[in-house]
Amino acid sequence: MKLDERNALITGASAGIGREFARQLAGRARSLILVARREDRLSEVRDKLTQQRPSLTVHIRSTDLANLSEVEELTTWLEQENIHVDLLINNAGLGDSGPFAASDPRRNEQMMLVNMVALTSLTRRLLPQMIARKRGGILNVSSSAGFLPIPEFAVYAATKAYVTSFSEALRAERVHSLSRPGAN
Ligand SMILES: NC(=O)c1ccc[n+]([C@@H]2O[C@H](COP(=O)([O-])OP(=O)(O)OC[C@H]3O[C@@H](n4cnc5c(N)ncnc54)[C@H](OP(=O)(O)O)[C@@H]3O)[C@@H](O)[C@H]2O)c1
Repeated sequence: MKLDERNALITGASAGIGREFARQLAGRARSLILVARREDRLSEVRDKLTQQRPSLTVHIRSTDLANLSEVEELTTWLEQENIHVDLLINNAGLGDSGPFAASDPRRNEQMMLVNMVALTSLTRRLLPQMIARKRGGILNVSSSAGFLPIPEFAVYAATKAYVTSFSEALRAERVHSLSRPGAN
C-alpha cells in the first residue's frame, strides 16, 4: 500500500511491535496517530521520530482501549480534527497465562476488551470512510496462539482466534464486494 500523503493510526505504539510499526512507517506516511495508555512513552516515540523526520506529523493520544468511552473519544477526536485514517493498525493487545480457574477476572476482561472489542469498534468506525474514499487498509495483529485452543492461555488464545476469524471474514467481504458487477 502506498502511504505517501497518508495517515496511519497505530494502537499499542508505546512499546514492542507497535513502536516498531511506528518506526517503520515514519519514512512512508504523512502523519502517524500513536495510541496507548502511557503518554510519556508515546511522547518519547514522537520526539524520536520527528527528530529523524522533521516533515512527519505525529499525534499522540493517551487512550485506555479497555475503556469504551475512551475509544469513542478517540474516534470523535479524529472526526473533529478531520483526520482520515488510511491505515489502521490494531496492534494493542495483552495476554495472560495460567489455569483459567485461578485467573484474574479483571485481567480476562481487559484482554477481551482490548484484543477484541476495541479492535472491532475502531474497525467499525473507520472502515466505512475507507470504503467511501476507495482507499485504505487495516492490519489486525493476531497470533499463532489463535490457531488452536491453548490450555493455560485459554482467554488469550480465544481472543486471537476471534481476531483471525474476524479479519478473514472482512477480507472475504472485500473480495466479494469487488467481484460484484459494477464494483471497482
Ligand atoms: N510479542 C510476541 O511474541 C507476540 C506474538 C504474537 C502476537 N503478538 C501480538 O502483538 C501485539 C503487540 O504485542 P507486543 O509483544 O508488542 O506487546 P507489548 O510490548 O506488551 O506492547 C503492548 C502495547 O499495547 C498497549 N496496550 C496494552 N493495553 C492497552 C490498553 N488497555 N489501552 C491501550 N493500549 C494498550 C501497550 O501500551 P500501554 O501499556 O502504554 O497502554 C503497548 O504499547 C499484541 O496484540 C500481541 O498479542 C505478540
